[in-house]
Amino acid sequence: MLNFIKSDKNNKYDSEDINFSNIPKHIAIIMDGNGRWAKKKNLPRTMGHKAGGEALKRIVRECSDLGVKYLTVYAFSTENWIRPKEEVSAIMRLIVEFLKREFNELHKNNVILNTVGDISKLPESCITALNDAKEKTKNNTGIMLNLALNYGGRNEILNAIKNIFKDYENNKLSKDDILNLNEDVFSSYLYTGDMPDPDIIIRPSGEKRLSNFLLWQCAYSEFWYSNINWPDFSKEDLHNAIRDYQNRNRRFGGVK
Ligand code: FPP
Repeated sequence: MLNFIKSDKNNKYDSEDINFSNIPKHIAIIMDGNGRWAKKKNLPRTMGHKAGGEALKRIVRECSDLGVKYLTVYAFSTENWIRPKEEVSAIMRLIVEFLKREFNELHKNNVILNTVGDISKLPESCITALNDAKEKTKNNTGIMLNLALNYGGRNEILNAIKNIFKDYENNKLSKDDILNLNEDVFSSYLYTGDMPDPDIIIRPSGEKRLSNFLLWQCAYSEFWYSNINWPDFSKEDLHNAIRDYQNRNRRFGGVK
């Protein structure tokens, strides 16, 4: 069960050199390496995903303790459907189990559960569990946990364009609104809506690519890679990423 211990930021371990006035508002993580973690241990791949769920629990708790406002995790991409049917079903099952098992703790700790991606294509049991958790936690005021499910950055941009067109047809947007569309308005049509863009994108497991994750939103995100497989990702790894982020010189195209 999640157990949010609020003491860590004030004492103990290695968080002392984290600058608490510069915590990233939005952290995004590509939870990669579950399969390789399992393979190394001679376990089925699904056990890697299960262990990945445990890592997620640890990292939500730590992000919440550190004061991160948004945590977006890539749990299932629009491309992941081509995996063996059994693996896809196992991931869907794990999501439902995660929500069942962890809901009370998440809710108690003020977490807002949200999704990004087209969840309408997920199995019914998954949709129900997600919508239920979203509805019950929508008025919470703590960290927002965004589960990216059936998510793809290209799909998200196409979807935004289609919704802009629908709003035009329904007279919610005029031709002039569209001709003068700015980046903020376009962003509001993405699955991430009015959330700030991710400050840092973390990808464990040694891969150094974006894999269709948050394509629009990552324009000025800092990237952080590590060779650790996601199930082994610890709060110390998170601290390393944050410390590194805090030493970056973010110029957003300007000069400093
Ligand atoms: C990528 O690792 C991981 C996934 C596609 C699935 C992530 C799913 C979970 C962590 C399950 C729990 C999710 C929630 C929301 C509770 P990979 O399988 O591509 O690893 P590999 O590259 O080593 O094969």
